[in-house]
Amino acid sequence: MATTMQWLLFGVLPYVAMTVFLVGLIWRYRFDQYGWTTRSSQLYEKRWLIIGAMMFHYGAFLAIAGHVLGILVPEQWTEALGIPESLYSLVSKVGGTIAVVMVVAGLAVLTVRRWGNDRVRAATTGVDIAVFVMLWLMIILGAMETIGVNDFGAGYNYRPSIGEWFRGLFYLQPDPQLVTGAPLIYQVHITVAWFFFMLFPFSRLVHAFSAPVGYLLRPYVVYRSRKPAKPQKERKWQTIGRSR
Ligand code: HEM
Repeated sequence: MATTMQWLLFGVLPYVAMTVFLVGLIWRYRFDQYGWTTRSSQLYEKRWLIIGAMMFHYGAFLAIAGHVLGILVPEQWTEALGIPESLYSLVSKVGGTIAVVMVVAGLAVLTVRRWGNDRVRAATTGVDIAVFVMLWLMIILGAMETIGVNDFGAGYNYRPSIGEWFRGLFYLQPDPQLVTGAPLIYQVHITVAWFFFMLFPFSRLVHAFSAPVGYLLRPYVVYRSRKPAKPQKERKWQTIGRSR
């Protein structure tokens, strides 16, 4: 039987966090349109921002793909596709390790830049500090899981435990005991993640929902010429209504 604390952490907190995340995003979108931005500090410093942000974001995309595959996709599905657990585990180790290296290196550059550059530091808010602390916590714990436990340690298959618990949340059948059997670092990683999701709508991270990915699907983007445009012939409809 799960204790009350375990129920609160793995049976109640996820729903509270998902509600705050969704309601918070809608509220912020409706009432803070001008604040819905990255609040970019590129004007203060550009070189390290490009290096750090590139590494961090590509590493994060890889980690997100790993989470979707490892936690949302059941083991039976990959096996039905003919992918044995041993192959899945190899891909997960290689992908997860690359993600850890990129995310840690990128976040390190972004952290040093933010606190090492006077102007960028002056533009840093309390919410930014909380975001950095939570990111570091989750990433260090994630690195300990992937590299410490799975690459060099005894290994832990989180798919039948954490994966099943996570999917159970969406069928409204959370089973905290599936998580409480996992090593403690996994449990702390997940708990910090729910607090991170609650902070998300109130931080600059909302820019993730405004990334201009639509451009990938807009091949008809019109380029502006450097030359001044030639005056166009007046069209018929433009003369309608004009006095003679
Ligand atoms: C409730 C949500 C989350 C769950 C259930 C979860 C679960 C996991 C699990 C099971 C692993 C271990 C992978 C392994 O052992 O190889 C992991 C790794 C990791 N997690 Fe999370 N995680 C969550 C949210 C997050 C968030 C929000 C971040 C944001 C930074 C994050 C960053 C990482 C990183 C960097 C790794 C190591 C690289 C990788 O394996 O992808 N996680 N996570």
